[in-house]
Order: sequence, then structure tokens, then C-alpha cells
Amino acid sequence: MTDQTLPHSQHKASDAELSVNASGNNLANSRKVFVKTYGCQMNVYDSQRMADSLAAEGYVTTDSADDADMVLINTCHIREKASEKLYSALGRLRNMKNKRQADGKDLIIGVAGCVAQAEGDEILRRSPTVDLVVGPQTYHRLPQALKQVREGRQVVDTEYAIEDKFEHLPVATREQVRKRGASAFLTVQEGCDKFCTFCVVPYTRGSEVSRSVAQIVSEATKLVQAGVRDLTLLGQNVNGWHGVGDDGREWGLGELLYHLAEIPGIARLRYTTSHPRDMDEMLIKAHGDLDILMPYLHLPVQSGSDRILKAMNRKHKGADYVQLIQRIRAVRPDLALSGDFIVGFPGETDEDFEDTMQLVRDVRYAQAYSFKYSPRPGTPGADLPDHVEESVKDERLQRLQALLSEQQYAFQDSLVGTEMDVLLEKPGRFEGQMIGRSPWLIPVIIDNEQGEVGDIIRVRVISTGTNSLMAEKLA
Ligand code: 5AD
Ligand code: SF4
Repeated sequence: MTDQTLPHSQHKASDAELSVNASGNNLANSRKVFVKTYGCQMNVYDSQRMADSLAAEGYVTTDSADDADMVLINTCHIREKASEKLYSALGRLRNMKNKRQADGKDLIIGVAGCVAQAEGDEILRRSPTVDLVVGPQTYHRLPQALKQVREGRQVVDTEYAIEDKFEHLPVATREQVRKRGASAFLTVQEGCDKFCTFCVVPYTRGSEVSRSVAQIVSEATKLVQAGVRDLTLLGQNVNGWHGVGDDGREWGLGELLYHLAEIPGIARLRYTTSHPRDMDEMLIKAHGDLDILMPYLHLPVQSGSDRILKAMNRKHKGADYVQLIQRIRAVRPDLALSGDFIVGFPGETDEDFEDTMQLVRDVRYAQAYSFKYSPRPGTPGADLPDHVEESVKDERLQRLQALLSEQQYAFQDSLVGTEMDVLLEKPGRFEGQMIGRSPWLIPVIIDNEQGEVGDIIRVRVISTGTNSLMAEKLA
């Protein structure tokens, strides 16, 4: 595996394979849908909303394609490897559908997400067994599209909707929220206007759109009332969020966080993913003022070289980023950082790469994601001269990942002996064991039953595992 894949990132990206869990609601006559999710947390959230929308049509979710009447693949287009996953999954589903049809049954195959948006009809051309292609802006029209499929048509619906999809998507029921646990995502912003030269997002997800304060507060309140305690606000460029606040003034993400912190029962807030250019004063201040804003920030820098940052159109220098981190750490000293890095962007020299290594040493990450540059058709980066050889990218990635792993373990080791609050999330592998979530997202294993899912308990860390902490409850 070349991409670094560590748990809990917004950008487990190409390697993440998450499925919307079975509802456990095995009504004999209801139809079943299996939703397979690739990519970022935005896709996880979208998959849940699609499942909610299909629930209104009588579908219950299932964990496996084998007993599903419909399989919906929510795709990621960020790197070539991520897109390819769709076609290998479709190959397997085609065989399954053929077998079903030989037995006089059927299987509806749907493709959603960023590959659906980018490739549209091309998906039907390459895989004629697909029934339905829906883009990320049209999920609220899924029931109508499905009706057409049942009438025997193949449907491609990737036209950007004029209407606000969120207004038309049904909100999860209390029961659905409970099943998903005490942590939840809430999309507050979609799309991106930054046009980093390596990135497809501005083309697949379109320009930036912020949801209204009223919509966000209403959804957040419903989630919290249904038992959610740890809420992550999502957006491709989440700190670009803005909207008119209760006081009639234009708010940024900082003001929104202060406002959401007032919801009774909310225990933890997070947001991801941010651009360094959009970290404004109010947002930095919120990190100092709001205890419930968790001391963990995913703030990608991509490269430490000013030359490469310029070629990437990031619009800041390496030193600006390091200073920004210092300012946030000044108000929140326990802040742990996560980031994304790309090695082998066109024109990257050994010296440029060394600048990235130096930035990593200066910042010290608690964990991070690093990728080899993957040219994406239609993005300016793909047309740049001086593409870096694969073997050089491999070597750089290895060196960077070794440094990032070292920093990750150093961070985890630094927590041994400390006390922290842990949100209990699910039972562990062994009888009585519970798994919880630390403020820094690292899973915490507690050996004896110490409360219920959704409780926040105080623990002391005893030791570390590869990607987890072992802890005991404090009296
Ligand atoms: N090649 C490699 N990595 C990429 N990313 C985005 N586009 C590309 C690409 N073309 C990475 C960036 C981004 C993360 C989601 O994926 O690091 O922050
Ligand atoms: Fe892509 Fe850059 Fe926008 Fe992030 S900020 S989604 S990397 S264009």
C-alpha cells in the first residue's frame, strides 16, 4: 500500500471502505439497500443521508451486497487509485446481477458521489449493468430516479440542482441516529473555490455553498436530542463557511461554533477540512474560548516548499502556515495537529522535498496523511511540465511517512500517564471491554465495563497500542 492510511481521517480517502450499518430492522417484506462508501467523511455523511432518503421509500440498510435488492456505491475521485475502485466493484456486482437474473430476480446497481459527477454517462458506457448514476448535488431526487429505474430505464442525474438538496432530504429518525452512535457528522458547507492545481474537488463538487445557520442549528439540535455528543462539522473547505447570523451580521465558522456550543447536551465539537487561508481571528479565538471545541485540528499544508505551494496555487508560504499553528497553539496549548501532504508534485526537487520534511519537523504532527501526486485529468497540475518519476515519489513518500509515524508514536507515548475524558462509543472485542474516543480521536480501550455508550468518563492512560490507547477509569 503506498498511501498512508491511518484511522479517523477525513481523508482516509481512497482506502476507506465504510458501509452504512444495517439497521437491524429485518422486516421480511421491506427492500434492502447496501451502501458502500469510499472516500472522505463527506461521503460517509452523504451515504447516511441517502440511506435516510431511501428509508422513506421503504428500504432498510443491510451490511452485505448478498442480501441487498439495491447496491449503491458512493465513490471518490480524488486520486486515480480511488476512482479505479469503482470499476473493480462494478465488475463483481455485474456477476452477482447476472446470477440473480438467471434465477428470475434482480439487483439494482447505483453509482453516487464524485466519480458519478465527473464521469456521468461514461459509467453506463463502461458498465451497462449500472441502473442509476447520481451526483452529490442530486441525492434528494433519488426516490424519483429510483422510480424511473423500476419502470425499466437507466437514469443519469448529475445536473446541479437549483433547489437546495438539504431542504428536500429527510432528516434521520431518532432511531437511525441512535444506531449510528454518539458521534456524528453534519455537513455545513459543500464545494470549493480554492482551485488547488492538483485537486478535482472544485470540478466535481462545484463552487462553495454554505448551509444556513437555521438549517445547521436545527439538524445539530435534532442530532444532540437523539443522543449525539461528539459532532463534527464537515465541508470540503469548512472554514470557508459563512452565513447570516441571528444578530443579522455575517458570521464565519468561528461565530457558528460559539453558537452551536450553546445547544444543551452537546459535549464536543470538531470541524474538518480547513484551508490555512481561511483560519480567521474569530476561529482561532474559538479554539481558546470553547472547551468543547476539541484540541485537534486537521489543517492540510500539502508541501513545505514555497515554490511548490505557489505551483499548487495554495496562496500562502510555508512560514505563514507554521506561524498560524503557533498562534492557535498559543490559545490552545494542547492542540494536536493532523495534515495532508502530497509528494512528487510536478517540478518538486530534492530541495523542495527537504523543505516539506523540515516543515513537518517544525510543526510536529499527531498524525497525518501523505500521498503520491496523482495527475487528475482536467486539473492544471496534470498539464505542468517536469512530472516526477514514480520511483522518486515512492522514495520520498517512504521517508515522509517514516517521519510522520515517528511523530505519531511520540504523540501517543506523550499521553501515557495523563488523564483525559473519553466518550464511550461501542463495546470492545472482549467481554466487558469498551472502546471510546479521546479528544484527539485516537481510540481508547477500557477493560472493564465502565458506563454506557454516549457516557463521557475520566480515564488515565496506561499504555499505547499501534493506533490506540489503553486506559483505566478514574474513580
Ligand atoms: N494527488 C494526490 N493527492 C491528492 N489529494 C488531492 N488531490 C490529489 C492528487 N491529485 C490529497 C490532498 C488532499 C487530500 C484529500 O487528498 O492532500 O488534502
Ligand atoms: Fe481541493 Fe484545495 Fe479545495 Fe481542498 S482547498 S478541496 S485541496 S481545491
